[in-house]
Amino acid sequence: MSKSAEIIIEGKKYDLPVIEGTEGEKALDISKLRAQSGYITLDYGFKNTGSTTSKITFLNGEEGILRYRGYSIEDLCDKSNFLEVAYLLIYGKLPTAEEYDQWIYDIKMHTMVHEDIKRILEGFPSNAHPMGVLSSLITSLTAFYPESLDPNRSIDGVKLSIVRLLAKLPTMAAWAYKNEVGHPVNYPDNTLDYVSNFLKMMFALPAEKHEVDPVISNALDTLLILHADHEQNCSTSTVRMVGSSHASLYTSISAGVNALWGPLHGGANQAVIEMLDNIKKDGGDVEKYIKKAKDKNDPFRLMGFGHRVYKNFDPRAKIIKKHADEVLAKLGVEDPVLEIAKKLEETALKDEYFIERKLFPNVDFYSGIIYRAMGIPTEMFTVMFAMGRLPGWISQWLEMRENNEPIGRPRQIYTGENVRDYVEMSKR
Ligand code: CMC
Repeated sequence: MSKSAEIIIEGKKYDLPVIEGTEGEKALDISKLRAQSGYITLDYGFKNTGSTTSKITFLNGEEGILRYRGYSIEDLCDKSNFLEVAYLLIYGKLPTAEEYDQWIYDIKMHTMVHEDIKRILEGFPSNAHPMGVLSSLITSLTAFYPESLDPNRSIDGVKLSIVRLLAKLPTMAAWAYKNEVGHPVNYPDNTLDYVSNFLKMMFALPAEKHEVDPVISNALDTLLILHADHEQNCSTSTVRMVGSSHASLYTSISAGVNALWGPLHGGANQAVIEMLDNIKKDGGDVEKYIKKAKDKNDPFRLMGFGHRVYKNFDPRAKIIKKHADEVLAKLGVEDPVLEIAKKLEETALKDEYFIERKLFPNVDFYSGIIYRAMGIPTEMFTVMFAMGRLPGWISQWLEMRENNEPIGRPRQIYTGENVRDYVEMSKR
């Protein structure tokens, strides 16, 4: 028997259906409440509001659990690789050997981008932030593949857009960086795996022989898996919202890149290193910054600490921390900024303010550190996050379209002026 909950508003009783997930999560279905009672619900930042039901990612913030399609993040990082995880997220199952080979082949066959995209890239000033360049280049794909704009496209057509996006994003991301530093762009090398190809396009110079370090490419592959999906976060909700108007996959993903850019979301990995750099320049006094973060009159927050849903150690942060230690040891990196990071982590974890509020280092705290050790420039950190999150955005967009979800359109409570007469300019 289906469950329901009773709610009493102004003495009148209403029955709200209870929706239960496969992991026992419960929700009140309020979709008919306004029609029945005239009331809507209000929830700034959607802290307690589900926007959809989803079969993709399960997350339990209290217990620190993260699973893609039922597989634990720990298992996937240990046994799988980024492109297999991308297949899993998008198609809902692990590929057979044949499906996997075809998937890798298809992606390799689309790594090149149209030469005219290079000309668009050259039009950007060299100080353009690579996230802005990336989102623009993704939108520009609609001009090269106009059939992608047809909202009634067949699923095969959408599959081609998916492959193109996964294949071309590393090329466009590496090119955004090359444009910034004024180096010639590198073309993809399909003899390499996905991550090594990206690293070569990022770092190779025509004047020198380039070998990709497997320590770096393996660690980066794991980082991409860790970022691959995180249910209805800000950028994913943006992708679903934009897609709900039947905007194309490319335009929806480009919107997701822009949402990710903000320092409270994916941009935090860049903000972490900038904060650590500032602390170093200011004499390395970690206590002073902990004090600032706790001061309610100071807007400063410890970047890389806290999370909307994890009120326990972020399971992704645990995995990255292990990799960060390994990479730093193997590469023999000695960096005073990393020393400050360690000190900050230790001090904050012992501080009552952070303990009480369950503020732990999040994925962006360690990813910033590891990217820096790999030699990835700070302004490219959020681009790395976007590369990782791409399969998640795609799978969430597909799920929303396959479920034929309605256009996203929240309500509001109006708190402005009541009706008033227009005042002529001369009388104001
Ligand atoms: N430094 C100092 N105080 C903090 C911090 C922080 N980083 N994060 C939260 N707090 C305090 C906040 O002031 C509030 O205190 P009080 O209850 O006394 O008013 C309490 O902790 C709860 O914070 P909140 O802002 O209500 O929590 P939220 O769920 O709305 O925000 C957050 C989550 C991630 C935006 C926030 O923790 C934050 O701004 N962190 C720094 C930015 C960051 O690292 N973002 C990356 C998130 S992980 C990557 C991703 O998934 O995008």
